Amino acid sequence: MHDFHYVKGKMYCEKVPVEDVEKAMGTPFYLYSYNTLRNHFTVFDAAFSEMPHIVCFAAKANSNIAILKIFVNEGGGMDIVSGGELYRALQAGVDPQKIVYSGVGKRVDEIAYALDSNILMFNLESFEELQVINECARRMKKVARIALRVNPDVNPETHPHISTGLKENKFGINIEKSLEAYRQAKTLEHIDIKGVSCHIGSQVTKISPFVDALNRLKRLIALLREAGITIKYLDLGGGLGITYNRETPPSPSDYAKAIIEASKGLNCTFIFEPGRVIVGNAGILVTKVLYNKTNEDKNFIVVDAGMNDLIRPSLYKAYHGIQPVEKVRREKIVADVVGPICESGDYLAKGRKISRLERGDLMAVMSAGAYGFTMASNYNSRPRAPEILVKEEQFYVIRQRERYDDLIKGEDIPAFLKRLS
Ligand code: LLP
Repeated sequence: MHDFHYVKGKMYCEKVPVEDVEKAMGTPFYLYSYNTLRNHFTVFDAAFSEMPHIVCFAAKANSNIAILKIFVNEGGGMDIVSGGELYRALQAGVDPQKIVYSGVGKRVDEIAYALDSNILMFNLESFEELQVINECARRMKKVARIALRVNPDVNPETHPHISTGLKENKFGINIEKSLEAYRQAKTLEHIDIKGVSCHIGSQVTKISPFVDALNRLKRLIALLREAGITIKYLDLGGGLGITYNRETPPSPSDYAKAIIEASKGLNCTFIFEPGRVIVGNAGILVTKVLYNKTNEDKNFIVVDAGMNDLIRPSLYKAYHGIQPVEKVRREKIVADVVGPICESGDYLAKGRKISRLERGDLMAVMSAGAYGFTMASNYNSRPRAPEILVKEEQFYVIRQRERYDDLIKGEDIPAFLKRLS
């Protein structure tokens, strides 16, 4: 469910006509619905109400501090993967005791920042990292709470680029080796073992891989408890998929039912790290048609948003729906929707059957709320798009459009170069 709909042929986000935002802001821009964001979070959270749990939103999916604050207000925690995301989480007022820190490559300064901030726990991904965190905590006279991210080797049956739980991936510690890692961790003075974590992949559209992973983790937890290691938290990661096109992912409540059923008697507090399922369909990217052209009988619609704004189609061949902001009766054509960037891979849709659009028409790229703005870049020296949040009949600029001087912020021409001119 989301709050983008048509009234008399015009697209609205909640009660705001999308074209009104364009009049104030120009294009391209990201547009999010507060109601959808809040709803998605609370529905997910409520689905697990019968068991102790924390929903730690995966900030990488959308890290605007206003968006994070929506979840904070609903009691949410945060899954972070960098010092930058920790900074954002703290700016948004997340309770540090609801922050989990994942990722294969944590630097010492990032570890120190997280220890200083007193986060709930680190999800560790290697033997070496365990030693480094222990050492860092020792220097700071602190104890680091940790879970090991184990790689349960289940096939999430998703796109190969975003599958993470197979043993050939770089993520986690092989589940067979993890017992040894826990034994090591137990001997370290500045490490406090709190749990077990995993994340099997993203855009997973079936329940069974999650249940398989959970069952493997359950066996591990039983072994750990036998070995006298206390496990309080089970972090099942994120990964629940959404409908971009024709996918039929399980609803959060079906997902929750299966997890609740499979975790009976486990006696753990669950942590979930959903990203996409919360924000994906709560945002769109609005762009304007610049030109129509044909090359070798192929139709191209050139728009003012490109792969620097939304890289998912170029990077993963991902499908995003394309909708006109104003429905007009025109003939259907098959076209590639392409951006202004100097790369053939710069497209938002390929071979798409859509109503012909004309120069100046607005187009909505759907399901762009997750991994849209967070993966945007300044490639081709394009200022990044603004982000707008709609609540009922109001809209709020939650990130300004970048300006040209933002593009060169921090750059400098050394004096020896200046002398030559
Ligand atoms: N937890 C961990 C440890 C993760 O690595 C991820 C995503 C999540 C949670 C959240 O997963 P989600 O619920 O959003 O599926 N850029 C790609 C997706 C990469 C996901 C990486 N990890 C895309 O645009 O599809």
